[in-house]
Amino acid sequence: AQARELVIAIDGPSGAGKSSTARGVAARLGLDYLDTGAMYRAVSWACMVDDVDMTSPDAMLERARGAELLMGLDPTDPRVTVDGHDVTAAIREPVIADRVSAVARVIPIRELLTGRMRNIIAASGRIVAEGRDVTTVVWPTAQLRLLMVADPVERIARREAELAGAAGHERVVSSIVDRDRKDSTVSRFGTPAEGVTLLDTTRLGLDEVIAAVIAMVPGSLG
Ligand code: DC
Repeated sequence: AQARELVIAIDGPSGAGKSSTARGVAARLGLDYLDTGAMYRAVSWACMVDDVDMTSPDAMLERARGAELLMGLDPTDPRVTVDGHDVTAAIREPVIADRVSAVARVIPIRELLTGRMRNIIAASGRIVAEGRDVTTVVWPTAQLRLLMVADPVERIARREAELAGAAGHERVVSSIVDRDRKDSTVSRFGTPAEGVTLLDTTRLGLDEVIAAVIAMVPGSLG
């Protein structure tokens, strides 16, 4: 018999600790993992390599429609493939981060990717999905819906630790502030939607956040 559906939806701004938490929770509970932001990044990558005009929503949409995205759902190694190219590392480059909001602002691209996300979540049935609008738009019927936030100062510190000195302080600060500003056109964080639990990770370590999320899973799985 098929196991009961369990979807955990986690939203939040960049640097709030969503990805590490979502992956950790999925690995601990034996669930699949979907990084919805990686799908926007993958479309940005496809646009970049094809020299698509990033000021033309129609051109970006056409490229997105033709892009065959394969999302690996293993939380310990979530690989992303676009038209047969493994772009797992490439989509983390700053050049992608710089242009992904242009893609994420195009409503028909959001609709297209949202449909693909729903197909993936439905086919899995037992999955942790993270992003900006998973709790509200993509899968509002998730059994657990969380909005993960952290103080901007803490998010900047985490990002710097992650980059291990590869970028100067000013560059990290401006990239976080800039990303928040660009992303705020599609997502506004602060007050969680009805039924969504706010989780402030500012003063929590990763293991504590993972434990807190697992403790909230309905049906005492933790
Ligand atoms: O979480 P991330 O940095 O990988 O997200 C990349 C971009 O995609 C960022 O601009 C926000 C956007 N995004 C979105 O609009 N909706 C989602 N569900 C996930 C990400």
